[in-house]
Amino acid sequence: MRTVEVTDDLQAYLDGLVPTRDAVLARMEEEADREGIPIVEPHEGSLLYLLVKIAGAKRILELGTATGYSGIWMLRGSGGGTLTTYETDHDRAQRARANFGEAGFGKAAIVLEENAKDGLEKLEGRFDACFIDLLNSFKSEEITRRVLELCIERLEGGALLMADNALRQGEVIAPKNQQAKNVAAYNQLVAKHPRLEGVVIPIRDGLSVARVKD
Ligand SMILES: C[S@@+](CC[C@H](N)C(=O)[O-])C[C@H]1O[C@@H](n2cnc3c(N)ncnc32)[C@H](O)[C@@H]1O
Repeated sequence: MRTVEVTDDLQAYLDGLVPTRDAVLARMEEEADREGIPIVEPHEGSLLYLLVKIAGAKRILELGTATGYSGIWMLRGSGGGTLTTYETDHDRAQRARANFGEAGFGKAAIVLEENAKDGLEKLEGRFDACFIDLLNSFKSEEITRRVLELCIERLEGGALLMADNALRQGEVIAPKNQQAKNVAAYNQLVAKHPRLEGVVIPIRDGLSVARVKD
């Protein structure tokens, strides 16, 4: 059976089921809407929260912080865990720090203002979950492949590896631009990687979810 088409009515139905957000997340959603900040939005945010919680992940790595929206969902799912997250945009990184503080995660979240690939090459530490939310920013499929390997190297056996925009609005079928080529390459790499078992969930623009084998 095909994935059901999400009509406006069905979307409204789903919107009625999504958990109510607190003041911090609600404000961030409004700001994202007004300023065009690319966030995962509440359906995917609550999925990230649940996946982290179900996996029992405590040490979370994120590539692409923006203003900290997805980070707050994952930190809540971790129940006392930590987040190490990369963001190159100074203004967004500063806003993320303020938002993490307001959400009670001032000490739990470390926002690194650095190109994620450069940072990962030298990052020490092990993680239980990783969320990649900047696949479309890489300059080539080769860099995409390298970033995937760097993430896997830093993940424990049994860890969760997630990546956003796995469908790239359908462009992955016949990728024409570099962004779509990166995502298509990532999906293939995850599907064939000997250390991963994964699936693409067609939520919003697609969430790739994989588990690192023990
Ligand atoms: C889609 S947004 C992240 C949204 C965030 N995960 C959320 O849902 O709240 C991607 C972010 O990655 C940042 N970015 C892009 N390329 C980057 C890179 N190579 N290293 C670190 N950050 C990068 C962008 O500035 C942007 O804020």
